[in-house]
Amino acid sequence: MNDTFLRACRGEEVEYTPVWLMRQAGRYLRQYQTVRANVDFLTLCKTPKLAAEVTIQPVEILGVDAAILFSDILIPVEAMGMRLVFSDKQGPILSEPIRNKSAVEKLIIPDVEEDMPFVPETIKILRKELENKVPLIGFSGAPFTLATYMIEGGTSKNFLHTKKMMFQHSGVFSYLMEKLTITVVSYLSSQIKAGAQAVQIFDTWAGMLTPVEYKEFALPYVKKTISELKKEGVPVIYFVNDCAGILKEVRKSGADVTGIDWRIDISDAIKRLGKKMVIQGNLDPCELFLPKEKLEERIKDILWKGESAKGHIFNLGHGVLPETPVENVIAMVEAVHKYGKKE
Ligand code: CP3
Repeated sequence: MNDTFLRACRGEEVEYTPVWLMRQAGRYLRQYQTVRANVDFLTLCKTPKLAAEVTIQPVEILGVDAAILFSDILIPVEAMGMRLVFSDKQGPILSEPIRNKSAVEKLIIPDVEEDMPFVPETIKILRKELENKVPLIGFSGAPFTLATYMIEGGTSKNFLHTKKMMFQHSGVFSYLMEKLTITVVSYLSSQIKAGAQAVQIFDTWAGMLTPVEYKEFALPYVKKTISELKKEGVPVIYFVNDCAGILKEVRKSGADVTGIDWRIDISDAIKRLGKKMVIQGNLDPCELFLPKEKLEERIKDILWKGESAKGHIFNLGHGVLPETPVENVIAMVEAVHKYGKKE
């Protein structure tokens, strides 16, 4: 198996900088659209054979160094008892948002084997099919990012409901966060037991907190999650979108790898995260629309700067956009493999 990605996660020697992309499976791939034409998104996530098929598509088409389980961060939220719908226009909608203590009380802590059996099943199929290819990454949303969806009822602009709960009903907020922490730990532990060889925790909305808020309302729970998962013995990646303002706190998460977005120069992130951290990132997803030569310059710059970290895994700073031409993504992966070779 090509274990370059796993070695980079552990900060070990690699022959070249490994690369994968957040949202590497999805609508920019014609082959994904073909599968998706016959099923809705949630059914796709819950049908192991199909979820495994679309997970493998980018491995074969792009030649990336890792596969990521095809699912969604809101799957465990549905299993906790919330009604989830994906709308083509608005994205995810949770129809009865959590706004008080009795709503938190009603949430169940799911049993993965019972309430989300399709997740471990998909992982087991994938491990067989990926055997001699690349490692499989499992994932979950971070407790804070999941809480924002549950409290807002979907995506939000200013997260006012979430902040109001944090500021005015902090007991209810911490009760919800504690339930989410237990859920995320058991969800990811089950993924690891089923065969996930690394896990990534997505904190998509943590960057909308002030550093003081992040330290009080998000960090303690993700830190607890990570310290529990460390017992499972696989690398833990913590991705924080819009991380620049809170990196000093993010550094304390306990993760093996920190994923960063594109709004910060990777050199600055390395300086602020310290020499002991492996870094993942951080090409702007829009830069995949640059002319080839300019794109290669950006890739070389990130690779060169990434050399000063304990380890570097090349990735985008956030997910691939559905409009992205697949040939540009292939060119990116080739350029990382070519220019990321170690002497
Ligand atoms: O990375 C991968 O290839 C694995 C699959 C994956 C998906 N979602 C598939 C998906 C992963 C890791 C996610 C995580 C996820 N989901 C996050 C965290 C990462 C991030 O992007 O910040 C978040 C916030 C979500 C919630 C979510 N799911 C939103 C807001 C949307 C709508 C926006 C959109 O792109 O359509 C989704 C839908 C979604 N998740 C799609 C895919 C492939 C598109 C569904 C479709 O086929 O129509």
